[in-house]
Amino acid sequence: MTAREPIDQQQAWRALSKHAEAMREVHLKDLFQEQDGRHECYTRRAAGMMLDLSKQRWRDETLDMLLDLARAADVPSAINRLLSGERVNLSEDRPALHTALRLPADAKLEVDGKDVVPSVHRTLDRMATMVAKFQAGQWRGATGRAITDVVNLGVGGSDLGPLMVTHALADYRPRDVHPVEVHFASTMDGSQLADYLLRLNPETTLFVISSKSFTTIDTLSNARTARDWLFSHLADGNDTNGLVMRQHFIGVSASPEKMSDWGISECNQLEFWEWVGGRYSLWGAIGLPIALAVGMDNFRALLDGAHAMDRHFATAELENNLPVLLALAGIWNVNFLDIRAHSILPYDGRLEYFASYLEQLEMESNGKSVTNEGRSVTYSTCPVLWGQLGPNAQHAFYQLLHQGTQPVECDFIAPIRRYDRVEDEATRKHLKGQHRLTLANCFAQSRVLMLGDDAIEDDGPRPSHKRYRGNQPSTTLLLDRLTPETLGALVALYEHKVFVQATIWDINPFDQWGVELGKKIATQTEQILTSHEGIESLDDSSRGLIEAVWRESDY
Ligand code: F6P
Repeated sequence: MTAREPIDQQQAWRALSKHAEAMREVHLKDLFQEQDGRHECYTRRAAGMMLDLSKQRWRDETLDMLLDLARAADVPSAINRLLSGERVNLSEDRPALHTALRLPADAKLEVDGKDVVPSVHRTLDRMATMVAKFQAGQWRGATGRAITDVVNLGVGGSDLGPLMVTHALADYRPRDVHPVEVHFASTMDGSQLADYLLRLNPETTLFVISSKSFTTIDTLSNARTARDWLFSHLADGNDTNGLVMRQHFIGVSASPEKMSDWGISECNQLEFWEWVGGRYSLWGAIGLPIALAVGMDNFRALLDGAHAMDRHFATAELENNLPVLLALAGIWNVNFLDIRAHSILPYDGRLEYFASYLEQLEMESNGKSVTNEGRSVTYSTCPVLWGQLGPNAQHAFYQLLHQGTQPVECDFIAPIRRYDRVEDEATRKHLKGQHRLTLANCFAQSRVLMLGDDAIEDDGPRPSHKRYRGNQPSTTLLLDRLTPETLGALVALYEHKVFVQATIWDINPFDQWGVELGKKIATQTEQILTSHEGIESLDDSSRGLIEAVWRESDY
């Protein structure tokens, strides 16, 4: 890739900066007043969803300029490079091919001269075989009892994606099969795991150790505790240790050697590839807990939905391309309107973990400050992104959105239809009523954030503490229904949004060097805590904290 002129020195950026000076003074309510049919004008549809960008603080000319910016950053050829398997992850010199994990079996995609699609589908087939065995009650523990509980031990991308999707698709748990409950433990302090160890039966519990690197201390600490728990309850000698390892552990990693070294038997190893980033990995073997929870057909439907979004991303012109438009709205807010906080607000309890999933996807990908050529950026990159279920957040942090001092961009996400499949008529009616109420709240909040006081008929003068200024930009994303397909498309939409923004900012969204130093220092600190040696090399605050621990505990 040739060095390019810094994006903020290009004509398209300068034009936007100038345009933004005027737009900063314009209120959203005026934009709606001046443009009839604004909703339709800024709404696009694809892959079972509708993206309404009309509550962004922009005009047609803004969007034209942003599209010029995307062209100046050569977004179309970047999309092509990503999807065709070029080595877009420059600092690690490899492709970023999560999209290959959702290609259909008859597709072809070469990496280093080798078609990767057959191995992707071999892994999917192996997952299917495993899932079928669990669902038939034939995956038995060391004492011969069928496995009923699977605990995924992983962190970051090896936890958040499977956790989020498993929760979101809970309605799709298959009936009429041997029931297997899927659980997640990620925290290095062992508190989540400890809770499962108290409640679960070792005879019927299996652990999936999910770690791309198979070196992550958080996961390996939990795995060691789980192994000892099983050994102490089930094994009575080296022979049975082997049986426990075979019947109670599955490993998922890009490092088969490390899985073998840890004791995972070869037939229980699911592999993926260095060219799949951790936070982009739910689509393959890391998705095993999803497939166990909702069945392989639904897992494949999730992949199909993501693939539909990939096709859209690859083929739709920029002005109708959902990920591109979502990315441009973010760029406009961050770089030109100085709005550097972004809240993710799903109005559907099934999307409880969606915001924390996106926190990693967006901030670990685009929390960068050097360009691909190693220069410090001279503009802002990823905003601070956080969120929660919208209805609950209304009773928590919406106060800040409505009357605080921070400008915040919000994404409202909701399905149009819900509860169609609830069998009991009376319950269905009540639940549908609750969904209607939820949609009303979703639309009301984005309206108040947009219009402020003008959202309500004039009800006379109000004191200043009861006033709303509005003008907070938002995007509303409506899914037809929340299904495996639309969820797959939704996640792929955000993955590609992140890529488009990284392309414009000229940063690498596929590495995460910023987390490495913390890991090294933690290792050193643990050595000091354990050995009681070397504390003098630390700063005064760290010394004080460690000494407090020594004084009060037996460490
Ligand atoms: O420390 C950050 C990170 O490397 C993430 O990028 C990754 O998702 C997580 O740790 C877990 O890594 P692994 O799957 O290798 O255990």
